[in-house]
Amino acid sequence: MGSLNLQVNLGGLTMKNPVTTASGTFGFGLEFAPFIDLSRLGAIVVKGTTLEPREGNPTPRMAETPAGMLNAIGLQNPGVEAFIRDYLPPLRQIDTPVIVNVSGNSVEDYGRLASILDEADGVAALEVNISCPNVKEGGIQFGTLPASAAAVTRAVRENTQKPVIVKLSPNVTDITEMARAVVDAGADALALINTLLGMDIDICTRRPVLANIFGGLSGPAIKPVALRMIYQVYRAVHVPILGMGGIMNSQDAIAFMLAGATAIAVGTANFTNPRATMDILEGIEEYCCREGVRDVNELIGAAHSHLTG
Ligand SMILES: Cc1cc2nc3c(=O)[nH]c(=O)nc-3n(C[C@H](O)[C@H](O)[C@H](O)COP(=O)(O)O)c2cc1C
Repeated sequence: MGSLNLQVNLGGLTMKNPVTTASGTFGFGLEFAPFIDLSRLGAIVVKGTTLEPREGNPTPRMAETPAGMLNAIGLQNPGVEAFIRDYLPPLRQIDTPVIVNVSGNSVEDYGRLASILDEADGVAALEVNISCPNVKEGGIQFGTLPASAAAVTRAVRENTQKPVIVKLSPNVTDITEMARAVVDAGADALALINTLLGMDIDICTRRPVLANIFGGLSGPAIKPVALRMIYQVYRAVHVPILGMGGIMNSQDAIAFMLAGATAIAVGTANFTNPRATMDILEGIEEYCCREGVRDVNELIGAAHSHLTG
């Protein structure tokens, strides 16, 4: 049995394997060093970063659901300058690319973040979170309108040489329309999906469980939605996809690659099993060996082949 190629290319970013972490579920990476060898990851996607430090939303801001969780963290983070000063230097020592997830209140915020991070040594790519409210436009999320999603993408594209991965929101009617808009605006790759808007109500207090009322649903409950959207987007555009949304084990991860993902991110699973990324990587390797797959790239989009013959 010959050796297995696990290397993939995500819009110009070379990853030694397809397994990475979903932003906001893996801290700044180092928190997981006691559990896993971080250098075995294909890439590390860090917490959402904004221009200014943010305290996030009031608590309670996380709740368990029967098949996942709700969160309304509100992008708590130390701000981009503190990230570059305090968190990036140790991350740089790890032999794996670091992808920084960025969020802003305005198109200009995204442009400024991109130019600041473009200068930062050790940032391999930017993941652009468009699931945040455009404060200037009265709070409508960038990721729900093709024109504003494209404007954010363009602002980032014009301010960085690094690969730009735009992370789509599933809270839209037609995901392919959003995908086309950001690819036309210069995205090198797409990440999908972000959380689905949801809520829970405590019947004893008769109040919403989260202080923010609404939160983002993640975990196994959203996997079928994520798979469907990746499958659709794979057919609609020709840039690589970073797939996520309810990946709990290697079978899930393989299904995402078969639907069209070039790489996959592990999110909520990190909370239940801090070694989830490693278990998933090992499971992908085992599957490839068992199925006679010599190159993991053979899996990408293979579930579409029945349509082309
Ligand atoms: C606690 C928490 C915090 C998150 N923070 C961010 C964030 O800062 N930026 C972002 O783009 N996505 C964020 N997400 C969304 C995840 O990166 C991911 O897209 C989503 O959870 C779906 O994957 P999963 O079902 O594997 O968790 C967050 C999710 C959770 C659960």
